[in-house]
Amino acid sequence: MSDPLATQSWPRLEALARARGGRHLTDLFANDDTRAQRYTATACGLTLDYAKQRIDDDTRMALLELFDEQGVAAAREAMFAGEPINTSEDRAVWHVALRAPDADPMYAPVHEVRQAMAAFAEEVRSGAWTGFDGQTITDVVNIGIGGSDLGPRFVCESLARHEIPRAHFVANVDPHDLDDTLAGLDPARTLVIVTSKSFGTAETLANARVARRWLIAAGASEADIARHFVAVSTNEDKVKAFGIERMFGFWDWVGGRYSLWSAVGLSIMVALGSERFAALLAGAHAMDQHFRDTPAADNLPVWLALTGIWNNNFLGLASHCVVPYAQRMANLPSFLQQLEMESNGKSVTREGAPTTVATVPTIWGSVGTNAQHAYFQMLHQGELAVDLDFILPLSAPEDAGGEREIERVANCLAQAEALMCGRDRQALRGELEAEGLSGQALEHRLAARQFAGNRPSNTLVMDALDAHHLGALIAAYEHKAFVQGMIWNINSFDQWGVELGKAMAGQLVKDLAADNTPSAHDGSTDRLLAQVRAHWGR
Ligand code: F6P
Repeated sequence: MSDPLATQSWPRLEALARARGGRHLTDLFANDDTRAQRYTATACGLTLDYAKQRIDDDTRMALLELFDEQGVAAAREAMFAGEPINTSEDRAVWHVALRAPDADPMYAPVHEVRQAMAAFAEEVRSGAWTGFDGQTITDVVNIGIGGSDLGPRFVCESLARHEIPRAHFVANVDPHDLDDTLAGLDPARTLVIVTSKSFGTAETLANARVARRWLIAAGASEADIARHFVAVSTNEDKVKAFGIERMFGFWDWVGGRYSLWSAVGLSIMVALGSERFAALLAGAHAMDQHFRDTPAADNLPVWLALTGIWNNNFLGLASHCVVPYAQRMANLPSFLQQLEMESNGKSVTREGAPTTVATVPTIWGSVGTNAQHAYFQMLHQGELAVDLDFILPLSAPEDAGGEREIERVANCLAQAEALMCGRDRQALRGELEAEGLSGQALEHRLAARQFAGNRPSNTLVMDALDAHHLGALIAAYEHKAFVQGMIWNINSFDQWGVELGKAMAGQLVKDLAADNTPSAHDGSTDRLLAQVRAHWGR
């Protein structure tokens, strides 16, 4: 891969965007009975309908050429082969190995850890593992942040059905997160999983220390801590130094935001069981195979990526909204924010030069239908054009055809349709005239109620909201981020941008201490620091 601007397809795509990017989606559908069928990719029980994107067959061809010219297929092979494609850290990016089937000896360490996780999860789930007073475990608290939180949290929330043990997730260092979670729990029946790849993340360690004190205060002895605390990390020394005996390990080639398939998924395994964890991995592996083996023209993650590139780089839509029409998937946008924005929020190329094209757009969103009653007004009529992914899991058999299910599905399809079609001015004028309006009043109402449509979206249908399909969905988005990063010629696998803030927070922690004279900062930070110190009487 190289400078995307140096490809032949990039200027061609720019020319296509200038000449045809503004054409109305409804015109693209007119006289094309097969558009919906042709602009659909299916894989592993997922169907991606990208027919509501402002592309035509020439754009499609040019996007596929860009994929070829940027050498994404070769890079994909390098990733699957475990080559060190994370160049700034000289590491492999090998999360696909975490969901590879058992037979291959190459993956033996992965399977050893998974077996240890399964044995432990089974002990907890069966009641054989007990707390300090001999009672079974009813609640599991995962303490971790970023990739050590968002993936397992999203999976557990999407799949858990009021089972015991219940999974809880604490990420925020704001005391209310942990304190409110622990307030409802019985210490004697609670297992804490401290999850941190580095085991050096300040927020996680601060929360873990408080959870430990909570157990001791409830009557657990120091020796009992081993029954209530386990760790997931790559850093055995720090885990030991913290005083946790039992650790489930993983490797530096597992990026935090790609880690839920590793021991980081221990909370998933304990809450949902090893069979459902295996189904999650199998769904992701099926998507890996599809991504690796299917020509780009029919490749679902490739089209997630290419439609995003078209919207962001060529149509100038730098804001991407994700709306799952499933309450249990409410945390998908948060998960994707880290996956896509931490991966591809870069402005330097793989060779260390400034990037020449726009990289990741803003990723945001929330659950439908709630979102419709919050910000969809802006999506339909606001100045800022946004493209969307609608995620629509099909109903479980017991819910199919129910009143609320019909509403859920109808609203999802209706929003995509409305964003595309807009409100036809002439038809609206007719309606207003029929209401008896005329003259100035009619023109005023017409202006307020009319909207142009032509707002693009993908609709991604999942055959079911179960572990297999969820695994496939998450893997598809991982591969989307990979393809986009390769096309933009950036390293999607480091996150140096978050380091400076962490270092500065370390200094400010010292500056807030009672007996310290704060060090000098900029005028604004100094004033804010003084305000907080004064509020605390320091
Ligand atoms: O926010 C930066 C980051 O390093 C993420 O990449 C990572 O997922 C998160 O912090 C947590 O890191 P750790 O698992 O090492 O505690």
